Amino acid sequence: MSSYDVIIIGSGPGGYVSAIRCAQLGLKTACVEGRDTLGGTCLNVGCIPSKALLHATHMLHEAEHNFSAMGLKGKSPSVDWTAMKAYKDDVIGQNTKGIEFLFKKNKVDWIKGWATIPEAGKVKVGDTVYDAKHIIIATGSESATLKGVEVDEKTVVTSTGALELGKIPKKLVVIGAGVIGLEMGSVYARLGAEVTVVEFLDHITPGLDKDLAKTFQRTLTKQGLNFILGAAVQSVDASKSKAKVHYKLRKDDSEHELDCDTVLVATGRKPFTDGLGLDALGVEMSPRGQVKTDGHYATNIKGIYAIGDAIDGPMLAHKAEDEGMAIAEILAGQAGHVNYGIIPGVIYTHPECASVGQTEEQLKEQGIAYKVGKFSFMGNGRAKANFAGDGFVKILADKATDRILGAHIIGPMAGDLIHEVCVAMEFGAAAEDLARTCHAHPTYSEAVREAALACGDGAIHA
Ligand code: FAD
Ligand code: NAI
Repeated sequence: MSSYDVIIIGSGPGGYVSAIRCAQLGLKTACVEGRDTLGGTCLNVGCIPSKALLHATHMLHEAEHNFSAMGLKGKSPSVDWTAMKAYKDDVIGQNTKGIEFLFKKNKVDWIKGWATIPEAGKVKVGDTVYDAKHIIIATGSESATLKGVEVDEKTVVTSTGALELGKIPKKLVVIGAGVIGLEMGSVYARLGAEVTVVEFLDHITPGLDKDLAKTFQRTLTKQGLNFILGAAVQSVDASKSKAKVHYKLRKDDSEHELDCDTVLVATGRKPFTDGLGLDALGVEMSPRGQVKTDGHYATNIKGIYAIGDAIDGPMLAHKAEDEGMAIAEILAGQAGHVNYGIIPGVIYTHPECASVGQTEEQLKEQGIAYKVGKFSFMGNGRAKANFAGDGFVKILADKATDRILGAHIIGPMAGDLIHEVCVAMEFGAAAEDLARTCHAHPTYSEAVREAALACGDGAIHA
C-alpha cells in the first residue's frame, strides 16, 4: 500500500511514539527510517547505550569504594571492556527490537531507507513514492562540529565514537562540560581514565541552577574529574593514538595545551535535516537550522509538520515523545498539547542531577519573589544507609502563593524523584501540598517532602 494518512520520517523517540499514537487513533501510518534499526539516536547511540555504560561503571565504583564498608570483602571485579560493550549492545538490541514489536502490534508500517519530500503530500524512499495526507519530520539531530577539530571517531570522537572506543583511554580530554561530556566523562573516569574537561564558560552545565551546578562540580572533582573552565579550544592535533588539545584561557588569552590519547567533542548537537529537500520545498528554517513550526507543529508548508530535536526546544527524548503524541492527537482532531514549562531534565551521573521549572537565576531575572526550601540527603536515613548522602533537594515556591515554581535535585535517584514535583506542578500545587502528603519511610522521596516542609515552617530532620 503506498497511500497513508500520516508518514513520519525518522523513528527516534519523537517519530516512533508519534507513529504508535497516530495508529492508535485510527490513522493509517508509516514510519521511514534510514538506519538499520528503529529507535533513532536515543536507542542506538544516545540515551540507552550511555545509560548502560553508566550503570555498569557505577556498579564497579560501588564495588571499589563501598562494598568493603558494608562487610562485603574480596577483590573488586576487573573490567572486560569488550564484554561491557557487548552488554551495552545487547541492551540496545532489546530496545530497538521492542520498537519493531510495537510497530507490528499497532500496525505501523516501517519503510526502510532514507526519505526525501519531493512535494507536499509525497514521500520518496528509494524509487518508491508514497502518498501521505500528513508528513511529520522527526529526523532528529547530529553532533555539532567545532572549528579546528576534526573528528575521526577513533582518537577524536563524538558521543557516538565514545560509546565504541577500542580501548579505555589513559588520558581523556572532554571538550564541553554539558550533559554528554559529564556523563561520558564519568564513565571513563570510573574505568580508570584521567579525565580533563575543558569548558568555554566559567561554570559547568549551562542552564542548570547555579547552586546545583556548583555542588555537582565539587562532587565530580572528588570523583577524579579535572575541570579547566573559561577555556576556548582552538584546535586539536591528532595522530592514530595520541592527541594534543590547544586552548586559550579567556581571562588572559594565555595559550595552553593538553596531551591525551582520546578527545571527546561534546559541544552540543544540531538539527539533522540533510537530504530531505526542505530548501527546494521552501520550508522555513530558523537561523540555528531548526525547522520552524507554529504552536501546532505545522511548518509553513501545508501538510508538513516537524517535532523533536529537529525543531526548537530542549533536545531531550521525552520532549520529542510528548511532541510526537501531541501532533498525533492534533492530526486526529483532538487537542494535543505539551506543557513546555514542566519538562524535567536529568543528568545520569552519580549522584544524578534533576531539574524542573525555573532556576533561582531565572526567577531573580524576572523579579519574581520566591522562597527556597532546601534539604540535604545527609538528613535522609535511606541515603545514609546507601552511601548516598551527597546532595540536596531544593524547591522554589512563590513567596506570596506558595505555588511550586521549580525543583532542583542532586542526589540518589534524582531523575525519578523529580517526577513527584512535575506532577505537583501540573496540578498547580503549593509546596504545602507536597509537605502534607504522607511519604513512606525510609525512602529518598522523604527528602523531597522535607524540602517542601522547608518552604513552610521548616524541615524536621535538618
Ligand atoms: P532522533 O532520536 O535523532 O531520531 C531521528 C531518526 O531519524 C534517526 O534514527 C535518523 O536515522 C532518522 N532519519 C533522519 N533523516 C532521515 C531521513 N531522511 N529518512 C529516514 N530516516 C531519517 N535525551 C534524554 O532525554 N535522556 C538521555 O539520557 C539522553 N541521553 C543522550 C545521550 C547521548 C550520547 C546523546 C547523543 C543524546 C542523548 N539524549 C538524551 C538526547 C536524545 O537522544 C534526543 O533528544 C532524542 O533522540 C531526539 O529524538 P528525535 O526523535 O527528535 O530524533
Ligand atoms: P550541551 O549543550 O549540554 O553542552 C555543551 C557544552 O559545551 C556547553 O557547556 C558549552 O558551553 C560547551 N562548549 C561549547 N563550545 C565549546 C568550546 N569551543 N570549547 C569548550 N566548551 C565548549 O551539549 P552536549 O553535552 O553535547 O549534549 C547535546 C544534547 O544532547 C543536549 O542538548 C542534551 O539535552 C542532550 N543530551 C541529554 C542527556 C540527558 O538528558 N541526560 C544526555 C546526553 C545528551
